Amino acid sequence: MSSRLEAEHLYKVFGRRPDAAVERLRDGVDREELRAVGATAAVIDASFTVEPGQIFVVMGLSGSGKSTLLRMLNGLLEPTAGRVRFDGDDLTGLSDRELRGVRSHKISMVFQHFALFPHRSVRENAAYGLEVQGVPRAERERRADEALALCGLDGWEKSWPDELSGGMQQRVGLARALATDADLLLMDESFSALDPLIRRDMQDQLLSLQKTLKKTIVFITHDLNEAMRLGDRIAVMRDGRIVQTGSAEDILLRPANDYVASFIQDVDRSRVLTAEAVMDRDVRGDEASCDCETAAPDTPFTDLCAISARVPHPVAVVGEDGALVGVVPRQRLVGFLGDEKAGPGTCDSPRGEGDEKVMAHA
Ligand SMILES: Nc1ncnc2c1ncn2[C@@H]1O[C@H](COP(=O)(O)OP(=O)(O)OP(=O)(O)O)[C@@H](O)[C@H]1O
Ligand SMILES: [Mg+2]
Repeated sequence: MSSRLEAEHLYKVFGRRPDAAVERLRDGVDREELRAVGATAAVIDASFTVEPGQIFVVMGLSGSGKSTLLRMLNGLLEPTAGRVRFDGDDLTGLSDRELRGVRSHKISMVFQHFALFPHRSVRENAAYGLEVQGVPRAERERRADEALALCGLDGWEKSWPDELSGGMQQRVGLARALATDADLLLMDESFSALDPLIRRDMQDQLLSLQKTLKKTIVFITHDLNEAMRLGDRIAVMRDGRIVQTGSAEDILLRPANDYVASFIQDVDRSRVLTAEAVMDRDVRGDEASCDCETAAPDTPFTDLCAISARVPHPVAVVGEDGALVGVVPRQRLVGFLGDEKAGPGTCDSPRGEGDEKVMAHA
């Protein structure tokens, strides 16, 4: 089966003589040299695949090429070189008319500042994509209302956009994208303009919607914590290039270079890692018989610490079928947090003496 979305050696150069610039990039000339001759290499040799139902996050600092990359994925920008395949079809080979068809039926975009139409109700705003598709009014209103309900906006259908908070307006944007049934969602810094708490709320909402809707999502952010929270896979961009692609755990535990390593310094590891990432897989069969508390492979690190504090021996990690898949000795937990982060309040205190000390202070 083919991937839902494939980017193959994509380049986008703005400015003078883009084709010649791509040749020079392939010969090893760097971005700065090109800039000196009036060409901006926004995306350089980007390749990746996105599988159906995945959230693929593109993460990078401002100017690293994220939006340019995203616009090539739905054909809004034509690549200078390389190919984009969507469900196996080469988007770069489609006519403008065919592209518009794909864009209005199969792909939805949600931007950072989602511009709602001020003189249309929330319902009409959510139904806009369907209106463009020519869906009859009754059906588009029904589908818009369903999408609004999914986004927690039940009861707001008849309101005007200026009666909604910024976070709610952004959810109308998400509802508009969901209402069309497009199964590829492209989200460019969709949550970045929101307050931290609302932003977290939106992330939760997206993750919970995704459990049932199983869309394929490309999500752009410059926030590493957001990337780690949302991404099944994450591509880290720097100066137009993808410098690493992997799961949150890959990036956290096996950064590809110093750049990525410096990026992840401030990430709260305990929020990202799961039992599966930290467990020792080398287990003997006889360790399986344990009638005390166990963890699942996706048990979050912080919960794992709590379990570890309650059981007198390494925590057993047990799969859905009840089979032992790994164990987590307590020292291992401390090791993953890194020395400087394993301060009070984490799970480094040995059971017994340490607990008493904590009690004594309480
Ligand atoms: N239409 C354009 N014409 C010329 N240069 C452009 C154009 N669009 C983008 N660029 C340049 O390409 C580079 C990448 O821009 P892009 O918008 O893709 O970055 P980004 O990672 O999305 O940044 P941000 O996080 O600030 O949105 C930048 O140097 C930008 O100036
Ligand atoms: Mg951008």
